[in-house]
Amino acid sequence: MGEETKDRPIGVYDSGVGGLTVVRWLHQVLPQERIIYFGDTARVPYGGRPREELIRFSRQIVGFFRKQGAKFIIAACNTSSAAALPVVAEESDVPLMGVIRAGARGAVSVTKAKRIGVMGTQVTVESRAYTLAVKELEPDAAVYEQACPRLVPLIEAGHRDGELVEGPLKEYLQPLLAREIDTLILGCTHYPYLLASIKGLVGSDVEVVDPAEAAAREAEDRLKDLGLLSGKKAGEDLFFVSGEPESFHAAAVQLGYNQSVEHVEIERYTI
Ligand code: DGL
Repeated sequence: MGEETKDRPIGVYDSGVGGLTVVRWLHQVLPQERIIYFGDTARVPYGGRPREELIRFSRQIVGFFRKQGAKFIIAACNTSSAAALPVVAEESDVPLMGVIRAGARGAVSVTKAKRIGVMGTQVTVESRAYTLAVKELEPDAAVYEQACPRLVPLIEAGHRDGELVEGPLKEYLQPLLAREIDTLILGCTHYPYLLASIKGLVGSDVEVVDPAEAAAREAEDRLKDLGLLSGKKAGEDLFFVSGEPESFHAAAVQLGYNQSVEHVEIERYTI
């Protein structure tokens, strides 16, 4: 593989601002990699959409990243990872990874009671992708999945704490706590924005796992295996959205990213 290919960017995508919680870890683990981020803000939330539609969206996004010259793609979205990735990864000539295996690995490495809770979108929970991924690693584990459909719209609207998020959070966490979980997977890349509230509600006896760190390390391993690790950062990161750029920019600034954000007509692309 030539130097030129190694210098190409990694494409990272999500329905909205959630995937930026993965970008944060990618910057720590792989500071020399250039990132192009796509947030599908015109079509967020993904969490209640039919599988066929999510597959079509992922094909469009992969097509866009190919045009941008991406060398590797990360679905920084549990919903897409669960519903679309198994199909789209087979079709793509650019290697693709999701975040679910990383989340399962993170949880199995910290659980002692082998009682694991998962918060996720409706689609992720119905796919049982986390249950299957955890059980592959630890067949004795009990996994309890809880759909949390009201959280993503609140987070996209800029809410991070207070009664507006804590009300639904209490409702979603109560059935998991009743199962006496000792580990909780944040099975949606939007949820780390609510980390302080979630930790406050579950207490210190429950380990909260954000799959993003393990996903960044898995990306490092995959790039190494593929001979695609970049030696030095070959340019600035670029952020794209399918909706209007301003509100996304405001959310990105909260996380310390001040790049300009561009609109893209995502429906023009496909694999
Ligand atoms: N952040 C995404 C996930 O990890 C998508 C959430 C949504 O759009 O419903 O599942």
